Amino acid sequence: MAKETKDYSKYFDFSGAKVISEDEHGKKIRLGGRDIHIVSEPNYRQEKQRGKEEVKVLYDNAVPEALRTLGTNKKYLIYTYGCQMNEHDTEVMKGLFEQMGYTATEDRNEADVILLNTCAIRENAEDKVFGELGHLKSLKTEKPELILGVCGCMSQEESVVSRILQKHSFVDLIFGTHNIHRLPELLMNAIFSKEMVVEVWSKEGDIIENLPKKREGMRAWVNIMYGCDKFCTYCIVPYTRGKERSRLPEDVIAEVRELARQGFKEITLLGQNVNAYGKDFTDRHYRFGDLMKDISKIDIPRVRFTTSHPRDFDDHLIEVLAGRGNLVEHIHLPVQSGSTAILKKMSRKYTRESYLELVRKIRAAIPDVVLTTDIIVGFPGETEEQFEETLSLVREVRFDSAFTFIYSPRAGTPAAEMADDVSAETKKERLKRLNDLMAELSRESNERLKGQIVEVLVEGESKNKANMLSGRTRTNKLVHFEGPKEWIGQFVHVRVTEPQTWYIKAEPVELATVQGAVS
Ligand code: 5AD
Ligand code: SF4
Repeated sequence: MAKETKDYSKYFDFSGAKVISEDEHGKKIRLGGRDIHIVSEPNYRQEKQRGKEEVKVLYDNAVPEALRTLGTNKKYLIYTYGCQMNEHDTEVMKGLFEQMGYTATEDRNEADVILLNTCAIRENAEDKVFGELGHLKSLKTEKPELILGVCGCMSQEESVVSRILQKHSFVDLIFGTHNIHRLPELLMNAIFSKEMVVEVWSKEGDIIENLPKKREGMRAWVNIMYGCDKFCTYCIVPYTRGKERSRLPEDVIAEVRELARQGFKEITLLGQNVNAYGKDFTDRHYRFGDLMKDISKIDIPRVRFTTSHPRDFDDHLIEVLAGRGNLVEHIHLPVQSGSTAILKKMSRKYTRESYLELVRKIRAAIPDVVLTTDIIVGFPGETEEQFEETLSLVREVRFDSAFTFIYSPRAGTPAAEMADDVSAETKKERLKRLNDLMAELSRESNERLKGQIVEVLVEGESKNKANMLSGRTRTNKLVHFEGPKEWIGQFVHVRVTEPQTWYIKAEPVELATVQGAVS
């Protein structure tokens, strides 16, 4: 393991830490009465590097026989923050826990292990995790044998690991996004050594296939690639998730076929930038459009994908999506800003005009496509005129919905160093203006559906009202309607009766069980 002397002083005062031992297995320190075994720790400089070494695909990764009874009569609980990638990582960790003999619980008081699978994308996501750690401290005090772990994107941040070591030393385990498959061994070490165990690889390792996954419901996520090489100046993801690595098409296709066989009704292909799929293959020319084409032939009713980058969205993909079948007519296409000058500062590598041109091409091929997006307001130095360009682009594209955010500086990213003269108040006010516009557009788009018949995949009972079911259209719109519980997991046709701003009320027309491609 490459060794480096770490300068923690930029985060915290570690002068009280005593180094007990240091060898090729890492470093043991004593801090505030707690022994800590740092096997490896995050390092931004390494996370930023994009090495040329070839990524290997490893297939033999079940939990070792010796650890299959580690969790007998014990329970685990995972709290998940952030995006669908994290949700899916949680499914993998649940699969690993269950192979170790653990059972799931929703009640933190009866859990033997609690993991926080964290998100680093904005400061408020991190605040939530530190708040939760505060609550869990009393539980840990009452029940010292409880194992508390922190994993996910925050674990990849130097400052976060330092803060936990220093201020939350009751945590037993910290591991990174590249160390998920190491969970059984790390957990065992934390249980038996009673030390805090820290293992965070800064460099992404190999692609690990065949990890167990515990999926629930009728919709499944399928990773097609890991990491991101785009380095948008505001974004922490390339650091926390490593370089772009695509899973082999044969592995993705085998997984989708198996999900179809198991009766899943919908899959979402996942990647931080799915349009870059296959760019890292050296032995073949096979891109995202090719993968979608092959998946469109599999007997699974709905296929979605997220998230795409406008820069890599090519004509072949548009042509394949226009073929529809199980490929739904909904595209999430993050624009981030409507100002070319801001897009340049964000290093998005497209302009307002080229984004609009892409939208024009997509709409020409798929006229009823629903487009949704992500937008950041209050990027450093954003002027009123530049913000208005975002509003005008949103109007021009007529997005059906958007995830909207106030820019949040992330330590270690280039934008965090940029001068920013926009006040917090102005940023809040811009977010409100944007959200008001989005509400108007969403309402208008839902109104256009009035009287139409749409196909809904019924996901469950409505949270607020008895006898009401809810589900989603192919275009991902939320629909509520009356019906029996037996419809859950089925496709139902409904007529839109009362469109609202963020959802649609409808009435069932007929029950159609859809097998294979839908109309
Ligand atoms: N501040 C605010 N929003 C951000 N996003 C990513 N990084 C930041 C940040 N530093 C938003 C982008 C991205 C979405 C997942 O989160 O809009 O598309
Ligand atoms: Fe997902 Fe990014 Fe948050 Fe990580 S930082 S959980 S990749 S949104």
